Amino acid sequence: MRRSVLLVCLGNICRSPLAEAALRREVDRLQLDVGIDSAGTDDWHVGRPPDRRAIAVALKNGMDISQFRARHVRAEDFQSFDYIVALDADNLAYLTKIRPENGKAELSLLLDHVTGREGQPVADPYYGHEDEFDVTWSDVTAGAQALARKIASM
Ligand code: 4NP
Repeated sequence: MRRSVLLVCLGNICRSPLAEAALRREVDRLQLDVGIDSAGTDDWHVGRPPDRRAIAVALKNGMDISQFRARHVRAEDFQSFDYIVALDADNLAYLTKIRPENGKAELSLLLDHVTGREGQPVADPYYGHEDEFDVTWSDVTAGAQALARKIASM
């Protein structure tokens, strides 16, 4: 059965595109049938490509995200996706607030799927140093691997 996952951060230019790339890679590796997209809880960067530092760290890890374009999360996403996965608690709180009553998507935090890291955020690297994007990549990869394993075992 085809499952679908939407990854959500604030701007959809740093963390969630990287989480999308990491999950795409993992799903390919495990040969799973999973639809994947990402979105932002804010609309500042709608239509823009990922942050250049995110593009660089993804490329360093073998993934080209330069064609991704930011979009705003929308109410229909709660019908279209099975899982909506937030990168931090603020994103999760926003999603909980806008969730329509008939929304079917199951909400979680990405690192909830990683044993021992439940409740932890993937820290926002936007105002940080370039090196922080390596930490982001490592965090989203841990989350993506755990999430893909869960989906595979369902
Ligand atoms: P993201 O990072 O939520 O991981 O895409 C951010 C991107 C942009 C801004 C903040 C965080 N901003 O303030 O514009």
